[in-house]
Amino acid sequence: MKGIILAGGTGSRLWPITHATSKQLLPVWDKPMVFYPLSTLMLAGIRDILIITAKGQTDAFAGLLGDGKQFGINLTYAEQDAPNGIAEALLIGREFLNGEPCALILGDNLFHGDSLGERLRGAAKRHTGATVFVHAVRDPERYGVMAFDPDGQPLDIIEKPSNPPSNLAVTGLYFFDASAPDRVADLVPSARGELEITDLNRSYLEDRELTVEMLGRGCAWLDTGTPASLLQAAQFVYSVEERQGLKIGSPEETAWRLGWIDRDALTRSAGFSAASDYGRYLNDMANSPDVSPPSFGMVLSSDRAELFFNSQPQEMTRRAGHD
Ligand code: TTP
Repeated sequence: MKGIILAGGTGSRLWPITHATSKQLLPVWDKPMVFYPLSTLMLAGIRDILIITAKGQTDAFAGLLGDGKQFGINLTYAEQDAPNGIAEALLIGREFLNGEPCALILGDNLFHGDSLGERLRGAAKRHTGATVFVHAVRDPERYGVMAFDPDGQPLDIIEKPSNPPSNLAVTGLYFFDASAPDRVADLVPSARGELEITDLNRSYLEDRELTVEMLGRGCAWLDTGTPASLLQAAQFVYSVEERQGLKIGSPEETAWRLGWIDRDALTRSAGFSAASDYGRYLNDMANSPDVSPPSFGMVLSSDRAELFFNSQPQEMTRRAGHD
């Protein structure tokens, strides 16, 4: 599966910050915004990624991310002439996709949560239809909102509704099968002159080919389009990183833990940022004997109770008199 990061747009709600630079290059606490969606696609197991920037911005992104070799991935770049809508990414990326399915993520969306990688890899395995993820928000009228029938089946997606049918917003991460570019070619631009991602998702819904997955409250979904939401995202990342001593959204760490880069490559990346906390973090990781941070897990079912440490089943002892 291939991946696309859509990192164009005007960023007008962040003016004047975005007068001379792309929103997706702004910092979210200790790293550039685009690191987060990039790490999310990598977590889904995707290694061939197209980054679509606004006109004239490719060099800035390529200066930061290069060809992706340092992350064990392959990055290519394209430009969107004007913000003609999110769905246009599938037309711009048509040649890159070359008839393959893809995951599309917005360059200003940040996802974080336990088992996220597993969920994403599950969606990536579906090669027909589309998958969207919905998440509860306090202000659904700002988003594409999912409407459900009385049986809980997805019924419709309504863009920025004044009367939201639910509090579940469609997030900026979509998995599409190979038919997506053709479907976009058939779309008519909306009243605001954009090829709407909601219309593309609707076309899958009408064909009964849309899978809607819910991201629960254990998962965080943040976007960073306004000064307040940018600050909130930075505070979120800061709080979690300071508490855990683990970083969110590091492509180098993701690549290392997935086994896509070796210790030498990780050490080299650390060297480029040697003066920063980020560089020291990578360096400590490169000097640690473990590839994965320690993790515990448990599976409980009617016929099985198993304890895992670092994904390895552990022996459990049973005390007399207790089941
Ligand atoms: P938005 O936040 O809706 O738009 P924007 O980034 O231009 O910001 P503003 O509303 O403040 O002017 O876009 C969501 C994401 O999608 C963001 O990462 C930019 C990207 N995008 C494009 O790259 N091209 C587009 O045509 C559109 C509509 C969005």
